[in-house]
Amino acid sequence: MTAARRDNWDSSLYDDQHSFVWRAGADLVDLLHPEPGERILDLGCGTGHLTAKIAENGARVTGLDSSPSMIAQARQNFPGLHFTLADARDFRSDETFDAVFSNAALHWIHDAEAVVRCVASVLKSGGRLVLEMGARGNIRRIRQVIESVFAEAGRAPNCPWFFPSVAEYSTLLEKHGFDVRTAQTFDRWTKLEHPGRGLREWIEMFAGSYFEGIPNGDRHVLIGHIEERLRPELYVDGAWFADYRRLRIEAVNSVEGKPAVSELRTS
Ligand SMILES: C[S@@+](CC[C@H](N)C(=O)[O-])C[C@H]1O[C@@H](n2cnc3c(N)ncnc32)[C@H](O)[C@@H]1O
Repeated sequence: MTAARRDNWDSSLYDDQHSFVWRAGADLVDLLHPEPGERILDLGCGTGHLTAKIAENGARVTGLDSSPSMIAQARQNFPGLHFTLADARDFRSDETFDAVFSNAALHWIHDAEAVVRCVASVLKSGGRLVLEMGARGNIRRIRQVIESVFAEAGRAPNCPWFFPSVAEYSTLLEKHGFDVRTAQTFDRWTKLEHPGRGLREWIEMFAGSYFEGIPNGDRHVLIGHIEERLRPELYVDGAWFADYRRLRIEAVNSVEGKPAVSELRTS
């Protein structure tokens, strides 16, 4: 099984079987609206596909990720771009950025405050943060079924994710001097690749921490039970879906957390 621990990603499998993650994040780049020459940090960049999309218009992008495998694959995919191996909870930069972007990465990091502190420290005053991550209620049915199958098997669940509410993440950002401009959650049921084995592959890629230390045969059986229970709800017209619910936020780094004078005049 492919381990899905935060620092142990299988980048080839990610690119081969789970490209829906960055494809679904493409319109987040539109929200970022990168301008030529802007310095932008892509936090948790994975194999670099959205980093490359950000760079298309001439922005100067750095992709940052804590997984050596993801960074190696990103460098191979996009040799002309700059990627750095670092932890989003603890990184420094000599330069400041016009914007920080992050897709589908921050829900892997439980110490959200450490991330926000780092982001605030590398963003210019007035710089923007544009992020998407799993929201509270993300993959609710998948998690419920994994956890009930584990409980019935007498095993403790080891959930790898942090899915905050709008209020929780916005409050954290405000505490660190951000002005939250837009924040929304929305459901985005996502069709998984490979019709028959899509859910199994998703679990193996992303929910691996639940199965750490469990022998292969037992894992196979547990995943079979999970598939069986979820099939009536998440297998639709010959394809598996994940019951995603996303959180999108646009925020501006403002030391005082106050609107600019020009905004006061127009309001
Ligand atoms: C699902 S992938 C998303 C990758 C990319 N943003 C995309 O849209 O394809 C999640 C990424 O978050 C990274 N990640 C998880 N924890 C991290 C941390 N503490 N610091 C930096 N990156 C982290 C993982 O290594 C992985 O590459």
